[in-house]
Amino acid sequence: MAVPEERFPVLGHRSDQAFVAGVGDRPLTMRGVTEADLPELLRVDREVFPEEPYPYFVLRQHIDVHGDRILVLDDGECLHGYVLFVTTTDGYVCWVLSLAVSADRRGRGLGRRLMLEALRQLRRERVHEVRLTVEPANAAAIMLYRTLGFATDGRVHRDYLGPGEDRLIMTLGAAGPGTA
Ligand SMILES: CC(C)(COP(=O)(O)OP(=O)(O)OC[C@H]1O[C@@H](n2cnc3c(N)ncnc32)[C@H](O)[C@@H]1OP(=O)(O)O)[C@@H](O)C(=O)NCCC(=O)NCCS
Repeated sequence: MAVPEERFPVLGHRSDQAFVAGVGDRPLTMRGVTEADLPELLRVDREVFPEEPYPYFVLRQHIDVHGDRILVLDDGECLHGYVLFVTTTDGYVCWVLSLAVSADRRGRGLGRRLMLEALRQLRRERVHEVRLTVEPANAAAIMLYRTLGFATDGRVHRDYLGPGEDRLIMTLGAAGPGTA
């Protein structure tokens, strides 16, 4: 992978090892999604993206087609977040299509853990670039991505995800530097 390894310190634990993210929280496990997670995955997605959640059939088929590219945070009863990342068929680019942490679990490093694990998995592959879109006003996500080394191309892509849905495109591992 063209992404410099030093940017992604490998997590000090196996991804399926339980960890506690906040005082009083049940231990969480980060693991690959299963079909049985679909109701919880839908719930989390609807909670985090109430205005534009994935329709049932889209999440269902994301699991069918690339379930190995969905990591979930599970406390044994509920899911508290997920990341979905999909590589283009030429293996050149991976898009992070969705990253979500439940509102009551934010600010505890979970978003970063999900991203680091996705990047750790991608490091073993021949992916040249990791890309994602983010709303220009989404300061928390932009900061997270920047601290992981993602950079923008310096412009807002108007209507990128539909009318009024402007997005920044952030890239990690491009041949040339972006604009942080
Ligand atoms: C973006 C999101 C996934 C971050 O998850 P999180 O678990 O709260 O993030 P973390 O605790 O791992 O924080 C990682 C970094 O993000 C940045 N960050 C997180 N919350 C922030 C905030 N409120 N303001 C500014 N920066 C913030 C910081 O750089 C932070 O690093 P630090 O803790 O070392 O300062 C979460 O806020 C979320 O689900 N938001 C709604 C959905 C969304 O916007 N998804 C991304 C779409 S592109």
